Amino acid sequence: MKTYKALCAAVALSAGLALQAQENQLVVQTKKMGAEIQPTMYGLFFEDINYAADGGLYAELVKNRSFEFPQHFMGWNTFGLVELKDDGPFERNPHYVRLSYSGHGHKHTGLDNTGFFGIGVRQGEEYRFSVWARVPQGGEAAKLRVELVDTKSMGERQAIASQRLTVDGKEWKKYQLVLKPTATNPKATLRIFLEGKQTVDLEHVSLFPTDTWKGHENGLRKDLMQLLADLKPGVFRFPGGCIVEGTDLETRYNWKNTVGPVENRPLNENRWQYTFTHRFFPDYFQSYGLGFYEYFLLSEEIGAEPLPVLNCGLACQYQNNNPEAHVALCDLDSYIQDALDLIEFANGATDTKWGKLRADMGHPEPFHLKVIGIGNEQWGPEYPVRLEPFIKAIRQAHPDIKVVGSSGPNSEGEQFDYLWPEMKRLKADLVDEHFYRPEKWFLAQGARYDNYDRKGPKVFAGEYACHGKGKKWNHFHAALLEAAFMTGLERNADIVHMATYAPLFAHVEGWQWRPDLIWYDNMNSVRTVSYYVQQLYAHYKGTNVLNLTMDKRPVTGAEGQNGLFASAVCDKNTGEYIVKVANTSDKPQKLNITFAGMKKKESLASARCIKLQTPYLDKDNTVEQPNLITPQETTLHVAGQALSTELEPYTFAVYILKK
Ligand code: AHR
Repeated sequence: MKTYKALCAAVALSAGLALQAQENQLVVQTKKMGAEIQPTMYGLFFEDINYAADGGLYAELVKNRSFEFPQHFMGWNTFGLVELKDDGPFERNPHYVRLSYSGHGHKHTGLDNTGFFGIGVRQGEEYRFSVWARVPQGGEAAKLRVELVDTKSMGERQAIASQRLTVDGKEWKKYQLVLKPTATNPKATLRIFLEGKQTVDLEHVSLFPTDTWKGHENGLRKDLMQLLADLKPGVFRFPGGCIVEGTDLETRYNWKNTVGPVENRPLNENRWQYTFTHRFFPDYFQSYGLGFYEYFLLSEEIGAEPLPVLNCGLACQYQNNNPEAHVALCDLDSYIQDALDLIEFANGATDTKWGKLRADMGHPEPFHLKVIGIGNEQWGPEYPVRLEPFIKAIRQAHPDIKVVGSSGPNSEGEQFDYLWPEMKRLKADLVDEHFYRPEKWFLAQGARYDNYDRKGPKVFAGEYACHGKGKKWNHFHAALLEAAFMTGLERNADIVHMATYAPLFAHVEGWQWRPDLIWYDNMNSVRTVSYYVQQLYAHYKGTNVLNLTMDKRPVTGAEGQNGLFASAVCDKNTGEYIVKVANTSDKPQKLNITFAGMKKKESLASARCIKLQTPYLDKDNTVEQPNLITPQETTLHVAGQALSTELEPYTFAVYILKK
């Protein structure tokens, strides 16, 4: 196994470069604390793209559980006598199936569900199967056999879990049982056989691991939630993204359809349904099982401030930008009411209509919503003219709630230049900026926020990622440049109040957009290097910015700064100084970091350094190699009031120093 240094040398030499370290004198002013860093500074952006919700974070293992996909048996295989009916017990999901005796013995009527890219199950773990059922003609009970099967095995050996279920009434009732597989299988199938001759009706067929995040029944995948919690995010934005807008307004994300009993949450198409270049038959819908209650709850459970974003009366402008596609101004009231009702759902007393629903769902305490986004990536005059009445109504009813407006889909340019002044005019509290940009852009944007107007709205860098080298997939170099760029967010924490990388999740078999922060299959999940970058910033965000300069200039990768980007903070709670440095150059850099303003008798007592580096600039962690590139921590020698060290080429380092 080659060591990192040897590999690094090989990379540099093969590029004909000398490993000559350059000298860099950095000065951190410790006497005067700068701007406070908001608790919301580094957070998460969630959107149901790349099978992030159904088939991802939402732990339901059955696809099309209510038979409501436009092709009602998508995700299912049926055999024997299976009929589709549409007068079921749930008004907004009326379809269900009827299983009848086929006249061919006890195994000839039934149905299989193939899940999302198969059903991932582990040996010895428990899976809760539930179904709404009835015996339509009454009389004798109906008998079912419910199994998890490995379809690659033969005959009876296919079953890796099997249980019997008796359905005994004419009225619809929920039945459940637990399946415990005898073998692990990432792509098992759920199979239901009708045993005996009695006809049975089935609706809302569901299978969840019992071991979900915090054990919730309508729960979330534990490993994925753990990764979110481990990041220590300050804010959680949901539910998107373009999904807020919908392909058209009919399919926009309507939060009111996502609360209340899961069985009666209507199916919605997914805006990303049409964007799979490599899949001929997209089957991407939103069950809304992961809805606004669940989003608020998970935000609370991971300690992040919830940031819901609502439709502003505009359909996705990329897909549908003609005036008829949008809500006329005179018809905007119900959209504004949706926003006011959402605030009531999150914060209202339990004797209000929406506060009561929250309490009925299990959370009488308010969710302490403080900020709401209106519109996602909107542009043109059609946006401010709609945003304005929202802001007025929200200010009037809830003066403490902050409103986030949009600066459009681009990081600069005509729309951006038009929308920022509009957001100032409307006194939006924060402006959402989006930038999926190439390496060159990230390298040039270290000082992006240094000259922003300090009197206007604050910045929410709401969607960003480095789409490097025209490849648009995850790799170390892109993550390094994100780290470099983020020194500029941190240095400008007086104006940048939130930042969220995007998108968050991707299923390896169901993605349409990359890079993404976290990848997974049915069994495993992977932290990318970009994830570690976000995590290092979130864990070491400190409480106040400290001024850091090199030759009296901020370190922004500018001409003469040897490809270095740096920022410094202090943490009032721990008494630590934290310096983040990204060396984006192909040369090692000697760093001499002086901590000016410390009292004469004070000195630095200890220093830790956490580094992200690899010779494999084009690679990232994958399901096959989840730990190829991980942060490595060392201790450093410090003396007096300075730290002298050397930073390898293409490396991001966080130095944590104690007085
Ligand atoms: O993050 C993916 C998409 O990028 C979001 O849905 C949208 O807001 C942006 O265009």
